[in-house]
Amino acid sequence: MSKRYRLCLMGISLIILIVLGFFLTGSVNFIVNDFWFASGLLLLILLSLVDQPFFSKDSNIFVNAVTASLSLLLIPNHERTWLYWVFLIISSYLILSSYILMWLRKYELAFEHPVIQIATRINRELGKPETIFSSFFLWGVVQQYGTASVEFNSLLWFWIIFMVLNVPSVAKAIDGAFDSKASKEIQNAVGEIFGVQSKNTFLVKLSYDRTDSLKIFDFVEFYYSVDNKDHIGIILDVYLLNQEQWIKILTTTEIDRLFEKSISKYIPDKIYKIKNPPENDYLNRFIGLVYENSVIEKIRFSYNSKVEIHSGQLIELNINSHKVLYQIVQGITKNEQLTNKNESSFIIGEAIQLGEWNEEKGRFEQYGWVPSINTPIFIASPISAPTISDNEYIIGCIPNTNYPVIINTEYAVTHHTAVLGVTGSGKSVFARSLIDKIAVNDTKVIIVDLTGEYKSKISNLTSIISDEEAIKITKLIDTLAQENAKFSNQRDQKIIRQAEREIKLYFGNAIKVFLEGDSSKVVFELSDISNNSSNLEYTRWFFWVLFHIAKDKNNYGKRVCVVLEEAHTIIPEINSMGVSDNASKATVNSIAQIALQGRKYNIGFIVIAQRTANVSKTVLTQCNSVIVFQELDRTTSDFLSNYMGSSFVGILPTLKFRTAIAMGKAFRSTTPMIFEVPHIDE
Ligand SMILES: Nc1ncnc2c1ncn2[C@@H]1O[C@H](COP(=O)(O)OP(=O)(O)OP(=O)(O)O)[C@@H](O)[C@H]1O
Ligand SMILES: [Mg+2]
Repeated sequence: MSKRYRLCLMGISLIILIVLGFFLTGSVNFIVNDFWFASGLLLLILLSLVDQPFFSKDSNIFVNAVTASLSLLLIPNHERTWLYWVFLIISSYLILSSYILMWLRKYELAFEHPVIQIATRINRELGKPETIFSSFFLWGVVQQYGTASVEFNSLLWFWIIFMVLNVPSVAKAIDGAFDSKASKEIQNAVGEIFGVQSKNTFLVKLSYDRTDSLKIFDFVEFYYSVDNKDHIGIILDVYLLNQEQWIKILTTTEIDRLFEKSISKYIPDKIYKIKNPPENDYLNRFIGLVYENSVIEKIRFSYNSKVEIHSGQLIELNINSHKVLYQIVQGITKNEQLTNKNESSFIIGEAIQLGEWNEEKGRFEQYGWVPSINTPIFIASPISAPTISDNEYIIGCIPNTNYPVIINTEYAVTHHTAVLGVTGSGKSVFARSLIDKIAVNDTKVIIVDLTGEYKSKISNLTSIISDEEAIKITKLIDTLAQENAKFSNQRDQKIIRQAEREIKLYFGNAIKVFLEGDSSKVVFELSDISNNSSNLEYTRWFFWVLFHIAKDKNNYGKRVCVVLEEAHTIIPEINSMGVSDNASKATVNSIAQIALQGRKYNIGFIVIAQRTANVSKTVLTQCNSVIVFQELDRTTSDFLSNYMGSSFVGILPTLKFRTAIAMGKAFRSTTPMIFEVPHIDE
């Protein structure tokens, strides 16, 4: 029953009663003379509506009983019937018992001794104004007018109507109906704050009689009495706990700024629903809140969003007004025990710090601190495109963003780059597009492809060694092999020296023609891909000559990039070699020599492999930059854990087609990044 309703009912009841009394008695003398009026209705109305509208405490009952007794004393002696004495005894009992109870009561009623509980409950019923003064009123009316009179009937009807209007549910229904549109701005609160978690999240107990329905992500407003400010918040969670409904509300200055508050007058700490929030994109960007156990490199967050997210997603948050970006690497379901049987289940995400985006330099820079718990997290907002220099190129973007992953083609070559991934993950398509960007200006690309794939995909791709030369060189190599197979005292050193000189000459010329010529890429092939010794020797000699041209002739002023496609066929790991271990070792060594010293002589590798297990580690470990697509292989994961944290290694098996992780010196940003290679039509 609202205060407004009670005051109206009291005013109207008094006026009607006085008017009724005047008509029935012909004067207003009843106000001072008649017991029924003074002790009955007046006290009934005043006490039940003003003093004890909800329930009567021991002290109220004591006062009620004393008032009742005093008014009984006003009854003249000749009107004191047996009922009078009953009333007097009851009143006296109430005075005495409520006085004693006032002394005895110490705790909430439910925790008192059962006798005290029973006595108090009886007293409350007997001593409340509706009981005690209603009986006085009815008794007074009967006493004065008898039961067959008009006066009795009129006053009885008045009493009945008054009592009915005083019933709480009737009062509420009437109150609601009179709620005019104008008074709507004094909206009903939906609940009240009872807890605060790290200054921006509030726990609210919902009230049982709230009229507004609530659901997750609704906007609410309130006035918080601790900071003396109005706030707008969103509902992040709804719990049912110990038969009570709770909600968790997030407030931030950003939400506060979203729109004007709609309510002009709040009751402090009460929560009001915003019924028609203006259009805004907050919930399309909001992901969740920073969760416990976050560290500088990796945050954990509770996912609480309308937006779908997945691994690789870029998210941002504010730490001391620095916008720091993270990339999602993991999602974990979690169940939290609230109380005995209540649980709340949610998802915890993990994201690795990429850092602050330096717009000028177009790269991420590590930020050296953690966000505090409950910091809101958002989908990263778009950035303006960074400027890119001549030797740089965008190999892709972080998934669903326009944050570019920029590779420096010069570093990619001179510091060697490995492209790894399971079959069909997109390595070769990616490598070919990378080669296109690398093979410009003074950089020449030699593709070692034993599968013939590149020749079919790249138009006008010629072999560095013509077929005739290849045949001649193979013959020379065979001659050498025959000589070397003999005992050392039987070898013809002249033939050997002659053959070697010619091999060097053929390869040297071919390389010189290419380096000084117009075409920027060529392919180096073998007759077949088996590791037979003459092929191995052929390869070894080629790289030996290539290395010496780099060393002695400075590549004729060019930079050379050697692409090793299906690298395990060219530079196998020693323990996984097949046919001829010694020949293989020699080949691998001649290539490893370039890997180890190439940077000095402006020559480098792009190594493409499915798994690292069967590829020479001497070469692989020289690759400063790595681009890794989906990988399922354990050895590869172990190998890659030298390059990136376990969180990134952990998501390798789940990387989507055309999605890869890039890291190393060739990239502008220092941390690993998950990125998506754009669709490439070859
Ligand atoms: N960026 C891309 N855009 C469009 N299609 C692509 C892209 N990358 C790969 N593909 C498609 O996927 C197929 C396999 O890709 P690709 O040959 O690069 O795989 P791979 O990793 O080299 O596999 P393998 O190790 O078996 O050689 C390609 O033939 C092409 O159709
Ligand atoms: Mg391939």
